Amino acid sequence: MAACRRGLPDAQSYGARLYAARCGQCHSAYDPASLTAPMWQVQVEAMEARMRQARLPELTDAERQAILDYLEQHAQR
Ligand code: HEC
Repeated sequence: MAACRRGLPDAQSYGARLYAARCGQCHSAYDPASLTAPMWQVQVEAMEARMRQARLPELTDAERQAILDYLEQHAQR
């Protein structure tokens, strides 16, 4: 699964920027179209555990929701 080299969809939106900032720290931010919405739900939960292990600041509920909204909007259908 490669990161999207053409850049993220809707790149200037709040959701895209938050996603790139919070989910692009350890690997580059994956293309939202690489997973379906239910897969993103699972993946974001798994990555929150990685963030805790790495002692990165946790996502707030609002941040998690904004990231999931963004990913689901552009997810694989
Ligand atoms: C603390 C570092 C770190 C952060 C921050 C992080 N990830 Fe990851 N990510 C990893 C590691 C390490 C892997 C390799 C697979 C694994 O060990 O879980 C990975 C793998 C992935 C994969 C590929 C999984 C697969 O099966 O190939 C996706 C998709 C992903 N991350 C999404 C995210 C999202 C979404 C966020 C933000 C919510 C995020 N990552 C934030 C460390 C991180």
